[in-house]
Amino acid sequence: MAIRLGDTAPDFTAETTQGTITFHDWLGDSWGVLFSHPKDFTPVCTTELGAVAHLADEFARRNVKVIGLSVDPVASHVTWEADIAETQGAEVNFPMIGDPDRVVADLYDMIHPNADNTLTVRSVFVIGPDKSVKLTLTYPASTGRNFDEILRVIDSLQLTAAHKVATPANWTDGDDVIIGSAVSDEEAATLFPQGWTTVKPYLRVLPQPGR
Ligand code: BEZ
Repeated sequence: MAIRLGDTAPDFTAETTQGTITFHDWLGDSWGVLFSHPKDFTPVCTTELGAVAHLADEFARRNVKVIGLSVDPVASHVTWEADIAETQGAEVNFPMIGDPDRVVADLYDMIHPNADNTLTVRSVFVIGPDKSVKLTLTYPASTGRNFDEILRVIDSLQLTAAHKVATPANWTDGDDVIIGSAVSDEEAATLFPQGWTTVKPYLRVLPQPGR
């Protein structure tokens, strides 16, 4: 069954390029990004893994651990990593799960038979420190993902975990935020004594808290 927002991220033990990992133990108190790619030694995937490697400091700054997966074995990932370093200018600095038996892929519903019943799709799961799933994304094999967008969502998730706010379309860290409709004006007055702008009764805007 598909994994939905709020579900507990399924736990597993798997072989990776950094040894055997039991997922929940490995995550510890961190946020997590689990992402799959269709196949090693393929062009779009090569650019994606390079892009994630370049963002290592950005993930670390947000207390996020990243782990990749495909249905290729670990030995294949290890050989491919040299190509990624050579062509993308960054060493792959996060573990990659080898899942030739599709154990994790099946657990996370990463094989979509109408797309290709042998390959994982480009899935992304963002997992909170409570191990619940905060975001799911599925991209087709032909479209490389925008990992800056994953960081942007994590910024929003971490902000809304700390403050009772929501973030508007195209928000980036530092932009104004929104008071969610579940928060009454009375509660908002307690939460945001600095005040807010009422554009409409249901659209209340304020500077990003905590900055
Ligand atoms: C790619 O990474 O370019 C790719 C992988 C699998 C299927 C199609 C494209």
